Amino acid sequence: MAVRLNHQTQPTFPETFRRVFALPNAEEMLVRRMLSEDIEAVTELEFLCFKDAWTEKHFRHELQNSRISVPMVAEIRGEIVGYIVPWFIEDEIHIANIAVSPLYRRHRIGEHLLDTILEEGEKQGSRFVYLEVRVSNVAAIQLYKKCGFVTAGIRAKYYQDGEDALLMEKYLG
Ligand SMILES: CC(C)(COP(=O)(O)OP(=O)(O)OC[C@H]1O[C@@H](n2cnc3c(N)ncnc32)[C@H](O)[C@@H]1OP(=O)(O)O)[C@@H](O)C(=O)NCCC(=O)NCCS
Repeated sequence: MAVRLNHQTQPTFPETFRRVFALPNAEEMLVRRMLSEDIEAVTELEFLCFKDAWTEKHFRHELQNSRISVPMVAEIRGEIVGYIVPWFIEDEIHIANIAVSPLYRRHRIGEHLLDTILEEGEKQGSRFVYLEVRVSNVAAIQLYKKCGFVTAGIRAKYYQDGEDALLMEKYLG
């Protein structure tokens, strides 16, 4: 049976989207849309954070060729310290990628990036959020639990190296 798509519910984030947060160490952090000039710095961070890292080409695709992707970066004093890649599909959000620089962890940057997407998505009609995370990734699983995600299931051998993924989900609103 054909599924009828309703693009009305897809949130829109203007290029000028900006949100400023005060971090626990009193630094100010800006969350804004990712730009093509950020890709080099973002890819460097990606390689520091993941063994199965996305390449520059992946990020370029997200920025230029994807209708559903709205990548954001976190910036402190002009330096990119984290990023999130959410996909907005109808009234669902899929968190495709999130990472914070190893030098800036445990400063609520991951939490603020995620909350920005959840709050803005909810305001604009998103109802359901899901993501996959390695079963061994304690830090990320704790972050998602803190942000209200629950485990919905396991995807066996989801990753290239054979590790399972937890499927986590959250209802909004
Ligand atoms: C997961 C990640 C994004 C968290 O970013 P972060 O900015 O350090 O996280 P925050 O400071 O916002 O932490 C928010 C909450 O997450 C949990 N958390 C974060 N890091 C944790 C850790 N190392 N151990 C346990 N809990 C952790 C805590 O509940 C924390 O709240 P608290 O500080 O009040 O206890 C970061 O560790 C990272 O980039 N990891 C590598 C990339 C990755 O695995 N991405 C997820 C792919 S699914």
